[in-house]
Amino acid sequence: MARESIPEPDQPGYPPVLIPEVAVRRRVRELGRGIARAHDARKQDDAQLVLLGVLNGAFMFTADLVRAIDRPAIVDFIRARSYGAARASSGTVTLELPPELDLAGKHVLVVEDVLDTGRTLGAIRDRLAASGAAVIEAVTLLRKPKATVGAEYIGFEIDDRFVVGYGLDEAGRWRHLPYVGYLDDDVR
Ligand code: IMP
Ligand code: MG
Repeated sequence: MARESIPEPDQPGYPPVLIPEVAVRRRVRELGRGIARAHDARKQDDAQLVLLGVLNGAFMFTADLVRAIDRPAIVDFIRARSYGAARASSGTVTLELPPELDLAGKHVLVVEDVLDTGRTLGAIRDRLAASGAAVIEAVTLLRKPKATVGAEYIGFEIDDRFVVGYGLDEAGRWRHLPYVGYLDDDVR
């Protein structure tokens, strides 16, 4: 079954392709294998793996990644909002964590869609620092050049342009696309 040949809309009005669906799928599988290996290597700690997806952008990546890791894992989500113009990251990050979340002794993997400035991930790392987690790591599907906060795992390094699809939106649009596209009239 040619599951990988879902059409990537090259239709007028659709964002042009930056990273095709097949490339996203391949990279997510690689990331999953690498994360699983690293987790297995820490088996002596017996730490439970927890994926903490960052909503809304990382919902699709988290869903694909947890299957690619192929290990028993808890999946939960943090909601992160930064206020500002649609295509700019603002300085203020608000976080909502599940109230019952207990990370003590766990191997926590924060799952981000894109590191732009890295402020969101920085705020999340600060917030989790006192959680008692045994390991805190982060994976991001995309990383832009100006990000100042690092992630242990990076899917793709991209140029400083506004991207949508595979969970990422502009003002709520384009999250459903199976590929990563970019928007024209890029003023950044
Ligand atoms: P940061 O805090 O500057 O790293 O920005 C991170 C957040 O801004 C991401 O989690 C996204 O939600 C959003 N963001 C940054 N760049 C883009 C983009 O190119 N497309 C869609 N959302 C973006
Ligand atoms: Mg996000």
